[in-house]
Amino acid sequence: MTTHNFSQLILNWYHTCGRKNLPWQREKTLYKVWISEIMLQQTTVKTVIPYFEKFIKKFPNINSLNKSKPDDILYLWSGLGYYKRAENIYKTAKIIQKDYKGKFPKNFSNIIKFPGIGRSTAGAILSLTLNYSFPILEGNVKRILTRYYGIKGHVKETKVEKKLWHLIERLIPINNTGKFNQGIMDVGALICTTINPKCNDCPLKQNCIAYKNKEWEKYPTKKNKKIKLKKKYWFVIIKYKDKFWIKKNQQKTIWNNLFCFPYFESIKNLTQWFQKNEIDLNQKSKLASFNHTLSHVKLCINPILIELYSTKKFISLNNTGIWYNSKNPQKIGFPKPVKKILNILK
Ligand code: ADE
Ligand code: SF4
Repeated sequence: MTTHNFSQLILNWYHTCGRKNLPWQREKTLYKVWISEIMLQQTTVKTVIPYFEKFIKKFPNINSLNKSKPDDILYLWSGLGYYKRAENIYKTAKIIQKDYKGKFPKNFSNIIKFPGIGRSTAGAILSLTLNYSFPILEGNVKRILTRYYGIKGHVKETKVEKKLWHLIERLIPINNTGKFNQGIMDVGALICTTINPKCNDCPLKQNCIAYKNKEWEKYPTKKNKKIKLKKKYWFVIIKYKDKFWIKKNQQKTIWNNLFCFPYFESIKNLTQWFQKNEIDLNQKSKLASFNHTLSHVKLCINPILIELYSTKKFISLNNTGIWYNSKNPQKIGFPKPVKKILNILK
C-alpha cells in the first residue's frame, strides 16, 4: 500500500538523515517550538537559527515576553522581515497570560485562534512538541506532494490546497507524527529542493511522478509571473559625528513601528523637506543606490547623506525623532536596508 509506504520511507530517511539538533529541537517546549514556527513562516532554517537563539536568550518563556514592550520584540526581529509576526507574538503572549494562566495551551482549537497561526502552524506546534497527530502543510511539503503526485494548478488555489490537505491527512502516521512532519520538511529543504532536486538521494523516487517523467521543474505550478511594483525611495541620512537622525515609522503599510531614516517617494516631497528644515544642500552627497525586495514591491533605495556641523537648528524643527548613537547604540528595531546603511557608515 503506497500510503503506508510513503510515511515509512520518510520515517526511515528521517532516522538516518533528518535534522534532530536544531536549536528548537533541544529540550523541546511548546513555547520554543511556537516561536520557531512563527519565525520559520516565510523564512529558511539557516536564516532563523541566529534570530531564534538571541530571542530565546532574551525571552526564555511566556512570562518574560509579557514583561516586555512591543519595541523590545521588534528589536530582536530587526532584519528578519514580515514584522507583523513580532506583533502577533506579543499579542499571543498577552492572550496566553489572560486566558491560559500564562501556560501555552495544548488544544488545537485554542492554538489556531491565536493571531498569525493557521492550520499548518497549529499542527506543527502540537506534532513537533507533543507528537500529536496533526499534519503540516507548508512550502516544503507542498512541493513534495505536487511532484510526487503530479498535481497541477497553483498551490494557493482553494481546490489545489484542499486536495493537498486531504493527501497529507491520509499520509501522516498515527504514531511518530512529529518525526514524520520534521522528516518530510527536511526532505523538502535538503533533497526535493526548488531547483535541482537531488532525486537520486530521495527516499520517494520509486513512485514519484515528477521523477518518472523527468519534469520536476513543472511543479509546483508557478504563478503567472506578476511583475512586482517598482518604487523609488529616497532615504535622507542626517549624520552628526557618530549619530544618525532616525524616527519611528508610523506608516502602517511597511516597517510599522521600526526606526527609519526620513524617506520620501518623490523628489518633490524630498525637496520640500529639505527646504522646511533649511538643510544646506552643499553638505549633501549621494551614496550608491540599491534594491530591496519586499513581498509585494521592489524598492530602489537612493540614500542621500547629509553631514551636519551643528545640530541646533535641525533639532528645533524635528522633535519627533531621535539621534541614534552608532558608538553606543540604543536597542531598537530597524528594517534591513536601514541596518545595511548604518553598518556601512558607522
Ligand atoms: N518550516 C516550517 N517549520 C519548519 C521546521 N520545523 N523545520 C524546517 N522547516 C520548517
Ligand atoms: Fe522530489 Fe525528486 Fe524526490 Fe520526486 S524523486 S519527491 S522530485 S526529490
